Amino acid sequence: MKEEDLLAYMKNNPYFLAPMAGITDCAFRSFMRKMGCGIATTELVSATGLKYNSSKTIKLMKYTEDQSPVGIQIFGEELEHLHNAAKYISDMGADFIDLNFGCPVAKVVKKGAGSAVLKDLVQLRKVLRAVKSGSSIPVSIKVRTGWDDQNRNTDEVAQVAYDEGIVWVAVHGRTRQQAYKGLADWEYINQVAEKAKLPIIGNGDITSASIAQKRLTDGHCQGVMIGRGCLKNPWIFMQSRGIAFQRNFNEMFDDLRGFLETHFDDYLTTLQYKKLAVWFSAGYPQSSHFRKAVFQLKEKTEVFEVVDQYFDKIQHLPMRDTSDEPFLMGGHG
Ligand SMILES: Cc1cc2nc3c(=O)[nH]c(=O)nc-3n(C[C@H](O)[C@H](O)[C@H](O)COP(=O)(O)O)c2cc1C
Repeated sequence: MKEEDLLAYMKNNPYFLAPMAGITDCAFRSFMRKMGCGIATTELVSATGLKYNSSKTIKLMKYTEDQSPVGIQIFGEELEHLHNAAKYISDMGADFIDLNFGCPVAKVVKKGAGSAVLKDLVQLRKVLRAVKSGSSIPVSIKVRTGWDDQNRNTDEVAQVAYDEGIVWVAVHGRTRQQAYKGLADWEYINQVAEKAKLPIIGNGDITSASIAQKRLTDGHCQGVMIGRGCLKNPWIFMQSRGIAFQRNFNEMFDDLRGFLETHFDDYLTTLQYKKLAVWFSAGYPQSSHFRKAVFQLKEKTEVFEVVDQYFDKIQHLPMRDTSDEPFLMGGHG
């Protein structure tokens, strides 16, 4: 996709879906687009894995047209692998490439990839050049605020990104050292966004539509990115955009089932469906009882039935706010 078209899309729908490994797969991205999300990205895939034609890597890169604009997120430390991955992704016809500089996982940073790149701006520039020179589509980056509290450097990272022709910088408002502890620092994100010469997409702890709207209108970000928030409230994007809708669990689960069954076999469909149904039950009565019951089941049809029964019962009940409860405190960004 041309850069101006991507940015025009962002202006129209500035509520990005955050990449989440093992969650925002092909089926989930199609589902979330139907539920109103903006620009979406695959989970991180290894540029080196692609070089060796890893079938796992290639599977993770799959997307469908309804997800457009959709980007493929890559990570790696070998410049040649990153350059070739950029070529491959451009030729595939994806809309953009996203580079992961946020992953805090030891196995990744030890090699000098993910958030480790934030410690070395010379290397950052080299990586950006390697990717840009292989790419014929826009390139974005996703970062943390820095390596640790003493080394928060998103201002400088954004300047390098701007110099190298990057389209936007998504900022998860925590340092690598913080992992998922504490809260995302939106004051810092906004300070960076105010000064940056390219769009900054703020990310971290957006648990409701009102927070999403506030982050967008009260600060300087041109977009906001929502991850875990849509796992408890699948309507968060529609609400954020002010789209009128009826909260209908039956319809929502029908759509989810459709996307899962299109992309996955029965085993994976059942696994993902259970996981998502349990997250969507957060904040409703008897949700822990429901969780236990559903995780004991193996048969797809049985799972569908138990999920329908539970959500029929709570359809008209309000959701309790659970945003202060720890939830998925680990990930690749
Ligand atoms: C389970 C999980 C997996 C994640 N995987 C990725 C990933 O592959 N790439 C990435 O850039 N960030 C990844 N992240 C980080 C999210 O994109 C996001 O930055 C983080 O969760 C904070 O946003 P949130 O509070 O809206 O969830 C992951 C997060 C979680 C919880």
